[in-house]
Amino acid sequence: DEPFSEKLRVPEALTFDDVLLRPKESRVEPDDADMATRVSTNVSLNIPVISAAMDTVTEAELAIEMARQGGLGVLHRNMSVEETAQHVEEVKRADELIIRDVVTASPDQTVREVDAMMERKGVSGAPVVDDDDTVLGIISGTDIRPYLEVGEHDSVQEAMTDEVITATEEVSPREALELMYEHKIERVPIVDDENRLTGLVTMAGVLARREYDNAARDDDGALVVGVAVGPFELERARAADAAGADIVFIDCAHAHNLDVIDSAREIREEVDADVVVGNIGTREAAEAVVDFADGVKVGIGPGSICTTRVVSGSGMPQITAVAEVADVASQHDTPVIADGGIRYSGDAIKAIAAGADAVMLGSYFAGTEEAPGRVITMNGKRYKQYRGMGSVGAMNDGGGDRYLKDDEEDEEFVPEGVEAATPYKGPLSSELHQLVGGMQSGMGYVGAETIPEFKERSEFVRVSSAGQTESHAHDVVITDEAPNYSPDSN
Ligand code: XMP
Repeated sequence: DEPFSEKLRVPEALTFDDVLLRPKESRVEPDDADMATRVSTNVSLNIPVISAAMDTVTEAELAIEMARQGGLGVLHRNMSVEETAQHVEEVKRADELIIRDVVTASPDQTVREVDAMMERKGVSGAPVVDDDDTVLGIISGTDIRPYLEVGEHDSVQEAMTDEVITATEEVSPREALELMYEHKIERVPIVDDENRLTGLVTMAGVLARREYDNAARDDDGALVVGVAVGPFELERARAADAAGADIVFIDCAHAHNLDVIDSAREIREEVDADVVVGNIGTREAAEAVVDFADGVKVGIGPGSICTTRVVSGSGMPQITAVAEVADVASQHDTPVIADGGIRYSGDAIKAIAAGADAVMLGSYFAGTEEAPGRVITMNGKRYKQYRGMGSVGAMNDGGGDRYLKDDEEDEEFVPEGVEAATPYKGPLSSELHQLVGGMQSGMGYVGAETIPEFKERSEFVRVSSAGQTESHAHDVVITDEAPNYSPDSN
């Protein structure tokens, strides 16, 4: 079949529904599949899952839960630079072993005063320090109780325990627990070499951290977090970096724009955090950024709320986009993130097979408890708002530069996204359990125990539209909805 014109001699690009993983001989039980992965030069996760930088998806609350479960949240940027720094700090402070914002008592307060203060601050004990923070003792509810009955005006000095068990900054969670066990105490003040208070470790804090044994943490034990910055937002990148962000994500709908690349290079020079560049969708774009990017993010128009392809007539079906970029990125050992269009766990593991090291999802998480926004009820069903960052509403709240359109004179946006609602789903942890469990099943079918091995070993088959119909539940009426399958998302 000769085309009428050379212009029509075109390659075919594929997406999730066009392919399936070829089942292979396996000795891997899905639960044993190790989901650890690297998403940028210096950041590794325990599950290959990232939440989208969208104002209806990722703020501090969801980012904290993502990292506790082993993944990563990328904070959106429809907020002030100061707010970005606050959200980063909130994630970094969550689950910290050593509390820095310690409630302290002074020796000459009365027992009554200190009792009221502890009640107000919601703590059950406090180190007693003098004016230059030297630790003199420690006081707890147990010390206070008898005084409240008979000597409420006595000083803290009299009621406190003055033989204090302290530790230094280097203490590990295990050592802290051993000290608590040995001395039957619940909190250990952290001191410098002159016995001045620098922090506090509590039993509740150590145990809470233990609950999240798969959490993604930095070298200091704090949860990891990413921040989206506009392609030209050096100031936000600097603030995020100073607040401790692990990765700065250049957030642009078309990063293969030479001005964006120049700016991304500059940002890369300015920050200590890793810099992931996106979005791209072709081999040439990957070649243009791999020499400086700590990671690349792929997706031109696959998102559930995106209308980029319809509005601009441009885009790349996601499996082909990921595979093209990964061909180049893998030569440079640059991690690849597949962003957008994932409806099912099967799509997520197909993206990894195409060459991604991790996946980013928006709609999948927008309905969870931890996502921003309130639950709304329509026709007796519960929903949460989900909108594209290129929708009119989101562009009005900032971020039009993602689409390289931030002309302040222009009052009428040309949107590349829609505003929508998504079913309310409850806690993020159950969504992640289904998503990651499904991905592990995919690894079981292919017989791969780790993500790198899976990328190597997996093979695709092409699926016809008849095959696609066969894949979904068919010829039945679903009576009880499964937690990981809704025919509507098809
Ligand atoms: P999903 O399919 O997971 O996609 O909901 C989330 C990803 O979609 C991108 N995004 C947009 N793309 N117009 C677009 O063309 C938009 O308004 C828009 N908002 C978000 C983004 O990459 C996100 O991670």
